[in-house]
Amino acid sequence: MATIPFDDRDGKIWYDGKLVEWRDANIHLLSHSLHYGSAVFEGTRMYDGKVFKLKEHVERLIKSAQILGYELPYSCDEIMEATLKEFEANNLTEGYVRHVAWRGADEMGLGARNTKIHLAIAAWDWPSYFTEEEKMKGISLSTADWKRPDPATAPCHAKAAGLYMICTISKHKAMDKGYADALMIDFQGYIAECTAANLFFVMNGELHTPDPYCFLDGITRQTVIELAERRGYKVVVRKIKPEEIVNAQEVFVTGTAAEITPVSKIDDHTFTTGEVTKALMKDYAMEIRK
Ligand SMILES: Cc1ncc(COP(=O)(O)O)c(C=O)c1O
Repeated sequence: MATIPFDDRDGKIWYDGKLVEWRDANIHLLSHSLHYGSAVFEGTRMYDGKVFKLKEHVERLIKSAQILGYELPYSCDEIMEATLKEFEANNLTEGYVRHVAWRGADEMGLGARNTKIHLAIAAWDWPSYFTEEEKMKGISLSTADWKRPDPATAPCHAKAAGLYMICTISKHKAMDKGYADALMIDFQGYIAECTAANLFFVMNGELHTPDPYCFLDGITRQTVIELAERRGYKVVVRKIKPEEIVNAQEVFVTGTAAEITPVSKIDDHTFTTGEVTKALMKDYAMEIRK
């Protein structure tokens, strides 16, 4: 399926406080974040004219920047208001929005205290992260070679650009083998998550999900835990070993972009989309449009 390049679209992007033409939303090539991975970002969705968990996402953006050592030059309320303006400027009542903050080109080198902090917000129509076909039949995952790093070696609770380097390498490798995404193991050998989504395993009617001690505790993940508990499912957050995958009857991933997407295969193990996954997909679809 041909997609329109992201730098050649009609529309407006909120950029440092102004709405600019989509094609003019550029950065200088000597921007610190391009060289040293110091950008932070968010992905959020609007449903029926309302952005789901907007405050939580903006708060995480601010927190991610603080973890990387900088303050955004806008408050949470200002960023929330700018987000709504961005949707309005593009006549969208449904869609995905990407917030990105980065250090500019005012200084070159790792010491970057005097770089200007920029913020841009871009919204577009993006129905599903995985293709509709992949979503219906469940996605396939291939275990990655790269490991999620020790929290002592990377700021793993920030949604920071630099952390996605191993995700792209892993996703490409999985796709080259015919899989939709990679399943990532952490530095201690436990199951972590996918490249941009969290994981849940249904084991004998209970939901088991990896302890997010070294990766992003997704906002969708937290919502799904609440929905599951509301339904009376037991949710167990723990360290899960790859050998335990065979004990799961159902597997699914969660994320703002992926929403709840069933998993049909991990390496050579196959799964069906069962009743628990279907029930939570239904609950999630209702929750986001409440
Ligand atoms: C690495 C990673 N893990 C998990 C998630 C899921 O997070 P959320 O549900 O907050 O979108 C994302 C997406 O933002 C991600 O990039």
